[in-house]
Amino acid sequence: MDAQNTIVINGNELPFTPGETILQVAQRNSIPIPTLCHLKNATPTGQCRICVVEVKGARSLVASCAAPAAKGMVVLTESPKVIEARRLVLQLMLSSGNHNCAVRVSDDQEWSRFQLDVNQYDQSNELCPVWGDCELQHLAYQYQVSAERFPRTDVPYPMEDINPFIVRDFSRCIKCGRCVQACNDVQVNNAISFGYRGTDTKIIAAEDKPLKNSECVFCGECVQACPVGALVEKNARYRVRPWETKQVRTTCSYCGVGCQLNLHVKEGKVVKVTGVEDVAPNYGSLCVKGRFGFDFINSEERLTTPLIKEDGEFRKASWEEALSLTAEKLGAIKQTDGPDAIGVLTSARVSNEDNYVANKFARAVLKTNNIDHCARL
Ligand code: FES
Repeated sequence: MDAQNTIVINGNELPFTPGETILQVAQRNSIPIPTLCHLKNATPTGQCRICVVEVKGARSLVASCAAPAAKGMVVLTESPKVIEARRLVLQLMLSSGNHNCAVRVSDDQEWSRFQLDVNQYDQSNELCPVWGDCELQHLAYQYQVSAERFPRTDVPYPMEDINPFIVRDFSRCIKCGRCVQACNDVQVNNAISFGYRGTDTKIIAAEDKPLKNSECVFCGECVQACPVGALVEKNARYRVRPWETKQVRTTCSYCGVGCQLNLHVKEGKVVKVTGVEDVAPNYGSLCVKGRFGFDFINSEERLTTPLIKEDGEFRKASWEEALSLTAEKLGAIKQTDGPDAIGVLTSARVSNEDNYVANKFARAVLKTNNIDHCARL
């Protein structure tokens, strides 16, 4: 790093590498700057303006996520001007659509009329499905902003929940475009984009079709990127609150890539899956199976005892009986027809360790390489 390349942020002289943005220099030095539209590893769009900072000599506030650091720059990240601008951005966002999460009005200890109206819209006794896990709400608290400065504008698009995995609530969308970048730049699925104009702007799948009739592959990258409650996992919506779960990190067993997952566990059951950010090999991304294919874990259809087929019907058996019968039959087939007359079918839904043991059993004990798995979602 060239010692000449330094900028001053909040009075601290900090080195930077040419090409780094003000935001990157600040983050590297643990100086907080709020962001909403900024998606790591995607080209900055400067869409939301929440990350603005004051740069000495600049005529207006600068979006730090998109502005490159320059030698001798003097930056203030929380000046009165900056705070006022951020409060305005938040107030405008909160007044568009349904955001009943913001701080209560100071002279009233009850939920405001505004918040109760939104509650009615949800037809739920609870507030927003991502209450407590929303970046907009977090910033509304941080900057003590309520939703009532501007009249609320309705969003003319109904909620879309006709696919099995994702609920799209356009009334909570802040049009930051993170989902579009996640889909197009990160996963390169190109299934969604900005559609319409002005206040009618909407994130659309091709020709404004529902996701299930589009190119969408339901990887859920958009859900993980959404900073608000506009995109939510259907199965977790209103069934789980972030503070009710604990996260358990594990490795996805569906294929050999080794994607890192966080299982969100409530009362011993997996209720949601997210990709672990900033960690190889998947850096937060998942496929449809890794993110949504976990219902089998608690399925009532899971076998809990071995079954033996007799006269075309299955009957329950003990493990001892089932294992003895299997050993006897496999031994007989091997004896009469050779090991390659046997095939072993395992499952992508069992652990990697179980599959490893099955592989050893097939190759080392049965002496066959006929082993595969079935990976239906
Ligand atoms: Fe910089 Fe949105 S985070 S403009």
